Parts: sequence; C-alpha cells; structure tokens
Amino acid sequence: MRTGPLIGKNNDLEANMDWGLKNRLSRIIKPDTGRTVMLAVDHGYFLGPTSGLEKPRKTIEPLLPYADSLMLTRGVLRTSVPPEADIPIVLRVSGGTSILSELSNEGITTSIEEAVRLNVAAVALSIFIGAPHEKETLLSLSRLVNEAEECGIAVLAVTAVGKDMVRDARYLSLACRIAAELGAHFVKTYYCDGFEEVAGTCPVPVVIAGGKKTPEKEALDLAWNAVKHGARGVDMGRNIFQSEAPVAMIQAVRAVVHERKAAAEAYDLFLKEKRKKGNKTEAH
Ligand code: R5P
Repeated sequence: MRTGPLIGKNNDLEANMDWGLKNRLSRIIKPDTGRTVMLAVDHGYFLGPTSGLEKPRKTIEPLLPYADSLMLTRGVLRTSVPPEADIPIVLRVSGGTSILSELSNEGITTSIEEAVRLNVAAVALSIFIGAPHEKETLLSLSRLVNEAEECGIAVLAVTAVGKDMVRDARYLSLACRIAAELGAHFVKTYYCDGFEEVAGTCPVPVVIAGGKKTPEKEALDLAWNAVKHGARGVDMGRNIFQSEAPVAMIQAVRAVVHERKAAAEAYDLFLKEKRKKGNKTEAH
C-alpha cells in the first residue's frame, strides 16, 4: 500500500483541495500506486466514427473492468455506458470543431451543471498552445477551473498539438506548465525525448496519450518510458481499442503502470491473454 500523498509527489496540491475534489481525483489516480490507466474513447467528438469506436458500447463494455476511468463525451456516455457501471467518468467538455476545420477553434460544449448531473469525477478540455485560437482555449480552461472547483470536480487539460507544432520537450513543457498555472488539476500530454523535463516542471500530475496505433510492444515501451520519466500513467485510446486484442492490451498496460512491470514482461502477458478464448478483437 502506498502511504505517501494520494496525488502529488509533495502534498501542496492536496493541501489546497476540498475533500470532494480530492476524493474525485483519487478515484482516477489510484492511491495504492499513485498511478492511473485512463481509457480514452472521446475521439469521435471531432473525428466521427473512429476505427474501433464505430459501436462505442461494444468497444467499451469488455474494457470497463480494467480501466481506472473512462474519458468520453456526454453523448457516448449516455448511449453507450450503463449507468450502473462503477467507473469514474472524465467528461470531455470542449469541442465545436471537426477534422475538416481549424481544430483549435474549440469552445466549451457542456455545462458544469450537466457534469454534476452525470456524476462525473473530472471534466476535460483541450488547450492549443501556439495555435490560432490559443487565447480562447486558455480562457476556456480558466473558466472551466473556476466553475468546476465550485462543485469539487477535477479538471484535466489536454495539451492538443496543432498541425505545425513539434511535440518536443520544450513545447510540451510550455503547454503543461501553462495548463497547471491556469489551475488544471492534472494534464494530458505526449511522451517525448526529455520527458522528465515535461513532468518535472509541471506541478500537477501528468498522464500521456498513446497516439496513433503502433505495434503492441511499442505502445507498452511508450507507457513504460513515460512512467519511468515521471508520468503518473496513461490516458490511452487507439493503442488499446484498435489492438487486435483490446482486453489483453489494457491488462498489459495496467501491468506496466500499476505493477511496474517492464515492457517486455507486459508484452508476454499480452500474448498470453490474447490466446485466451474470446479475448481477440471482441471489442471491435
Ligand atoms: C484527443 O484529443 C483525444 O482526447 C484522445 O482521447 C487522445 O488523443 C488519447 O487517445 P490516443 O491514445 O488514441 O491518442
């Protein structure tokens, strides 16, 4: 059992949190390991029916027992997740754009009252540093923090990367730090060379996205490197639900994040779980 602070490496963050906010965040970042495996299935909010998420309920249901939280929009939550499911929800509340338009031109799509009604643990919003609508997305983040904190709901800032931005440590450190300065309680970013600078200069927990689908071993290496260099876990989507064996893959990711297994060992677990009956492509 981990005995240190629930959320941060020091307890400055926790000391300034209300009980409800601390409680919600600790449902996502698990107190016994200080880490989290979030399952991201919000891609449709600007990508439409992403491969592997054509029928969200079918994809999500078998993965639910293995995810520490579910990141998604209210539309998919209402239609595709049973209300009885015992899983913390991270509700995407930014949008208003599509893959066919300027992605940074997002606004807040979902009210905080709706987030309360849906009993979510956290709300998530993208910020676009260096993109045409940088200012609007940063002011949206600030407003969301003001409103969410009134209700004890945590805020996840997603450091979305515009077409022309390089995902290097300099850029991602800038984006993560700005998100934390504006009040985000945790930040989602990308793994990069020099990631310890990104995590080390951000005063709130950082989790990484998985990015485009890669071979399972590579995705496990990515998760392993990220937690080794300071990430508190993953908010992974395509590398889980587009895997040929999503249930096996999420279990392997859990082994890396929570059990601190090396990527090679977790990959062996993936292969073993994949061989089990019904564990292959059932989430598609
Ligand atoms: C993108 O903005 C969405 O928030 C996705 O949830 C995010 O990209 C994580 O998913 P993936 O692991 O597929 O990159």
